[in-house]
Amino acid sequence: MPLHLDARQRAMLEEMHVRVWWPQEPEPAPAAAAAAAAAAAEAPATRVPAAAPAPAPAVVARAAPAVPAPAPVPTPRQERADEGRSAAIAAMDWSALQQAVAGCEACKLCSTRKNTVFGVGPAAPEADAPPRADWLIVGEAPGEQEDLRGEPFVGQAGKLLDNMLRAVGVSRHGDAKAAPQSAFIVNVLKCRPPGNRNPALDEVAQCEPFLKRQIALLQPKIILAVGRFAVQSLLADSVADVQTVPLGRLRGKVYRYAGVPVVVSYHPAYLLRSLPEKAKAWADLCLAMETAETLKSR
Ligand code: URA
Repeated sequence: MPLHLDARQRAMLEEMHVRVWWPQEPEPAPAAAAAAAAAAAEAPATRVPAAAPAPAPAVVARAAPAVPAPAPVPTPRQERADEGRSAAIAAMDWSALQQAVAGCEACKLCSTRKNTVFGVGPAAPEADAPPRADWLIVGEAPGEQEDLRGEPFVGQAGKLLDNMLRAVGVSRHGDAKAAPQSAFIVNVLKCRPPGNRNPALDEVAQCEPFLKRQIALLQPKIILAVGRFAVQSLLADSVADVQTVPLGRLRGKVYRYAGVPVVVSYHPAYLLRSLPEKAKAWADLCLAMETAETLKSR
């Protein structure tokens, strides 16, 4: 599919250090040039630095612990309770699911969170119905700002994610004029792990039924899993020993989760710290876009 990139998208790609060939455009007339300069000034996040590279934005990196936190071993009684809870969540409609997440006390994160973070995307057409989203982006867990606002990816990493998505015509706001495709954005965990530590296995296990039901209700054309926690959650049934496979080796293939195609990419917070990987993330987005397009035309 040919890519039609406007000036803003090209600036974004340059910021991502991605080189794409496009035909030369004629010199703009003076009035058009002034308008373009004004538009660029409105988009500081996508501007290309003039000479010296801008200092890296302050990002709170999640420290990788030497040993993952062990999951408590569930008793048979606990296992039965968990199965009952999962079955109840699997039968929920969109608004019941939102309420269940908002009131969840299944793990200790409920005692430290300020807000649950259900997800964000286009408005739902009716109260009980899920929104229509072409893409589902799955990240790791809310950070400090997400916990305060109750919305995923609102910090620096979120800005980068939004810019990258916009470059391929995808937006979390479902505004067809700004971007033809809509995205719903969620995390594996709906509550913030204190101090931005990595999610623990039992926390991921308790949140998993929520993510599963979100996917079943949204039925996106494509899932983009960003970062290793999203990848490990979504590929657990399709890749043997997925926890031991480096994320870079899982890229470039289309997997399935409950029948929905899944593409693997790097976490935006990692991309902010690792410029060379941005070009790979662009390739991942292109694979996701092609996959979503191919399915659409079937
Ligand atoms: N990182 C994530 O994985 N999710 C967020 O919502 C914010 C940062």
